[in-house]
Amino acid sequence: DHAITRIKNMKMIELGKFRIKPWYFSPYPQEITNLDCIYICEFCLKYRKSRKCLERHLQKCPFKHPPGNEIYRKGSVSFFELDGRKNKLYAQNLCLLAKLFLDHKTLYYDTDPFLFYVMTEYDARGYHIVDPFLFYVMTKYDARGYHIVGYFSKEKESSEDYNVACILTLPPYQRKGYGKLLIEFSYELSKFEGKTGSPEKPLSDLGLLSYRSYWKQTILEILIGLKPLEGQEKPQMTINEICEQTSIKKEDVISTLTTLELINYYRGQYILTLNKELVDTHRRIIDRRKVRIDSKNLHWTPKD
Ligand code: COA
Ligand code: NA
Repeated sequence: DHAITRIKNMKMIELGKFRIKPWYFSPYPQEITNLDCIYICEFCLKYRKSRKCLERHLQKCPFKHPPGNEIYRKGSVSFFELDGRKNKLYAQNLCLLAKLFLDHKTLYYDTDPFLFYVMTEYDARGYHIVDPFLFYVMTKYDARGYHIVGYFSKEKESSEDYNVACILTLPPYQRKGYGKLLIEFSYELSKFEGKTGSPEKPLSDLGLLSYRSYWKQTILEILIGLKPLEGQEKPQMTINEICEQTSIKKEDVISTLTTLELINYYRGQYILTLNKELVDTHRRIIDRRKVRIDSKNLHWTPKD
């Protein structure tokens, strides 16, 4: 029954040092979803039905980072690229985990057509896992490593120029700017490919909020930095140039400019008018975005 299978089925997951309440249904095996909590290895994403079982797993799990290649590192933030065909088990477990926080997307059981970009944060201090109810400290667990923060998936071939299929920031990390960092990274890949791209539709409400915010900041940052050429009174830029510099698809650029009510028709041509208030607000917002993707740190060539 469709209605029943979509009901949220899991009460709690434990992932590294976090206990997280799932938002939505995810098709983990039924014998697992009947339990109060499932225990997930934060590095390989395998799941276990008890803390004891996870503990046994952790003693032999060799991983301290996602599989695949580390293609980006700056400070404590890294990105790992992995292939849904070559790292099938990890990719499937990542999809299962992500589905807990995604309502609308059909889960891709077939991970073969996708690449996955997993963002991690390195922690050199490590920690003990403490059960908040039992004050039980997990012993002999070295948690130093590359902790998963979020990811996005991308079709290897997209006929519609999608550069993101699914995107997720794990709840403990949300609303701290990591979503925008994932989005920025996805456009950085598109720049390296020399293409414009757009996220797959439909987007969730949170997805749309994040993309709108990213598009707005990215486009305003460019417009604010424009200088008039010699002999010109006002700086000029075409929409196509904005697309080329940002890799944001044309329709998203136009919708952003329209939503911002920046486009005016004046004496036979379209002009963009930025008022001082908007510029000042945006300078402040851009200054606050401390962590940014630095293309110098991306070691990647598009596959063709
Ligand atoms: N309420 C209001 N605004 C929110 C919000 C919320 N719960 N969550 C994010 N935003 C806004 C932020 O205010 C920010 O805009 P601002 O800088 O202009 O204020 C923007 O969205 C991005 O925030 P950021 O912190 O960079 O994003 P995030 O790390 O929270 O991740 C998602 C955003 C969409 C990846 C995250 O919410 C998520 O994983 N959701 C579940 C999965 C999903 O829906 N994915 C998208 C569809 S595939
Ligand atoms: Na259940």
